Amino acid sequence: MTADPSSADFRATMSSFCTGVVAIAAVVDGRPVGMTCQSFISLSLDPPLIAFAPARTSSTYPVLRQARRFAISVLAEDQGDVALALASKGTDKFATVPWHPLASGTPVIDGCLAWIDCTFETEYDAGDHLLVVGRVHELGHLPDGEPLTYYRSSFNSVGGRQSPLSS
Ligand SMILES: Cc1cc2nc3c(=O)[nH]c(=O)nc-3n(C[C@H](O)[C@H](O)[C@H](O)COP(=O)(O)O)c2cc1C
Repeated sequence: MTADPSSADFRATMSSFCTGVVAIAAVVDGRPVGMTCQSFISLSLDPPLIAFAPARTSSTYPVLRQARRFAISVLAEDQGDVALALASKGTDKFATVPWHPLASGTPVIDGCLAWIDCTFETEYDAGDHLLVVGRVHELGHLPDGEPLTYYRSSFNSVGGRQSPLSS
């Protein structure tokens, strides 16, 4: 056990917690903007709320925040390339990422397993991250499909196939 953990210990230990991977996206000035997140949780049923945690250093989140609404896309096991594209620092992250708008206009990634259309509700300070709470307005999911998962710095599927981020 380590008291007062270093960043490296903290990261290494937390990487044992397996998560799904989502894309968080909005349309700002007519263009889709978005980022990949693993820090996504279902927060409340009544009212329906979700939360995620963007880093304070994120250059995408302040742009995303200019929109009133945003969409969460839960990525499928074959969407590691989408996760990498939306985690890049490029200006046009969506150049290779096909998407479609929901009725509200928020962008959802084609082929994702589930989508959740939200408005920004509250934002809390959380150290070097923010904790952002969103109110859910519309959602849907495919009846079948396997999720992309993130575990020990690699993408995986529930079936156990592993694909390191560097490949
Ligand atoms: C699997 C995965 C999960 C990520 N989860 C988060 C997250 O929860 N919060 C966050 O701020 N960034 C997360 N990132 C990083 C951002 O997607 C990425 O650094 C960022 O969008 C690109 O930088 P920018 O925001 O400055 O454009 C994750 C990246 C990957 C590949």
